[in-house]
Amino acid sequence: MPGWYLLVVGVHILAATVWIGSMVFLGVAVVPVLREPDLASVRTTLLHRLGVRFRWIGWGLLGVLIATGVLMLGMRGYTWAHLWDGTLWAGPWGRTLAWKLGFVGLVLVVTAVHDFYLGPRTTRLLESDDASAETVRRAASYLGRLTTLLSLIILVLAVILVRGGL
Ligand code: HEM
Repeated sequence: MPGWYLLVVGVHILAATVWIGSMVFLGVAVVPVLREPDLASVRTTLLHRLGVRFRWIGWGLLGVLIATGVLMLGMRGYTWAHLWDGTLWAGPWGRTLAWKLGFVGLVLVVTAVHDFYLGPRTTRLLESDDASAETVRRAASYLGRLTTLLSLIILVLAVILVRGGL
């Protein structure tokens, strides 16, 4: 495999590692610790600041994953014409890629709803002590967990993709 291809695959895998690793760290370390009673006074501010900071890192990582993904497909000889005439989706490899990109599409939608609607809405409601804050916060938390689950499914499909396909 040409050196360039290995470099692009390396950047793709690094971006996938940081994307999935950060979400798992937030879910298993940051959020449980912030639930401790002595941190109640700083919980909302800290979660909001962490959420805003990770938001742009997350979209940057998704951008890198899409850009390196398209590059790898091009290096494998696929063109935009193959996308439209269906060649890209043909056979076991093409089917796995289609499933993978379907889940990537879901991750983009769920992450956008979480980052640009439910997340900011939760902060606003918590700051104004609104009674519905807890419900919206829980919905945002479930969307965060759903994004992690979908990204883990993408990881499994990626491993299957490289080894031949479904
Ligand atoms: C959340 C998004 C994504 C994650 C977590 C992810 C993860 C991965 C991982 C871990 C691998 C390496 C698998 C292995 O070597 O066993 C991989 C390979 C690959 N990914 Fe992605 N990926 C994502 C998005 C994309 C997108 C958007 C595209 C295409 C536009 C793409 C195209 C590919 C291709 C073509 C390979 C095969 C590379 C090779 O030839 O070795 N990926 N992906």
